[in-house]
Amino acid sequence: MSSESPSDQSPTQDELDLLHYELRINRPVRMKIPEFLRDERLRHVIFSGQFNVDMLEELGGIADKIRVLSKMREGQDFLIKLLHHKRAMLYFTQPSTRTFLSFMSACQILGITCNEVRDPTTSSETKGETRFDSIRMFSSYFDLIIMRSKLARLAESCAYLMNDLSETGNRSVPIINAGSGADEHPTQALLDIYTLQRTFQFTDPKDSPITTRFDELRSEYPELTRGLSNKVYGFCGDIGRGRTVRSLASLLTNYENVTLIFIAPNDPTLALKDDLRQRLADQGVRMHEVESFEDQIDGIPVIEQLDALYMTRIQKEHNDPNDEKHFAELDLSRYKLSQSLVSRMKTFAPILHPFPRDQHFGEIPPEIDDDPRAMYFRQARNGMWIRAALLATIFGVHHQITSFFHEEYGGVNDRVRMTNAK
Ligand code: NCD
Repeated sequence: MSSESPSDQSPTQDELDLLHYELRINRPVRMKIPEFLRDERLRHVIFSGQFNVDMLEELGGIADKIRVLSKMREGQDFLIKLLHHKRAMLYFTQPSTRTFLSFMSACQILGITCNEVRDPTTSSETKGETRFDSIRMFSSYFDLIIMRSKLARLAESCAYLMNDLSETGNRSVPIINAGSGADEHPTQALLDIYTLQRTFQFTDPKDSPITTRFDELRSEYPELTRGLSNKVYGFCGDIGRGRTVRSLASLLTNYENVTLIFIAPNDPTLALKDDLRQRLADQGVRMHEVESFEDQIDGIPVIEQLDALYMTRIQKEHNDPNDEKHFAELDLSRYKLSQSLVSRMKTFAPILHPFPRDQHFGEIPPEIDDDPRAMYFRQARNGMWIRAALLATIFGVHHQITSFFHEEYGGVNDRVRMTNAK
């Protein structure tokens, strides 16, 4: 099967398989979360809603340790032996550069052997095999399936398939969602959170016991606190179709006193979707939807209020041909960053972007790359460390990393010190 779009004719077995899981899919996330655990440990990673602040802190701490250990030969040798008996399938039927490569690098750090299917026309799906049969086959040969698909619920359905197999005494492996349609991209949200955790520690290699970067910032911003709480987060661009925005916004609701500002055209395709708006409202999150960085909230332009800015590209590959004319009429220039806008942002406020950025649209022009607030390249590298931490947690070797780290570093468990490791 080369196309992932549902057909107009009688349902295919793939579609029937998805329908079979529909009842389970339509339950509230909190009811599903226990099913993605095994023995209290993370097993399948499907939604960002599976993670709470303690888990995010723990994962960030493990990522920091992997990062530091990877700088030394002994550390690399230790890490690469941890999971060298495991094999992973990267089943990516939607384009990917960073997610694919950073998962592969994360596997390599821990010694996991990787294999990939990226083009379903090279697999037996062209001979009529269903995706669910393909997945079950992968689970026969591999110990983990990392998957990206255009179909929003495929990864979730595969997690149920694996759980059902395990209940009937069959082989079953963890599923990681590496991007599901326009719905969720939980591991991108993990790397975004990890980047924010590191940024909002406000440490600097030049910090001394007398003055630190944080002290200096506090003289300029007296209300500033360390950590992800008490912050204003801006999301700009294609909010409606950005699965990374959906996953990150959900994760940020775990933190105290956050404000989310969505800066997007007032357009049904590009603006915040009703379901996410409702979910955020139900959680009592403070949020605003504006059409421009210049719009004011409490008399102050949005661009000057942000503690972090998450830029996104306009995902025009998903445009409906019927909407092209309407899209051409929208003024999208307001969803591009410029040096003059950046100069009005808070001096510490990181600029993130899940990437790829669109050189033709230019939501972040390259002249901003040298600004110390431009975090997107570091953010992408953070993906490798946090994904390695996630894999170590799923396979239960994270405690070994912590113990080895303490042996090497004499019990130092100070994220501030580790923050300085690039
Ligand atoms: C994003 C995605 O695929 O959702 N990229 C990524 O995984 N880093 C965002 C995008 O494609 O714009």
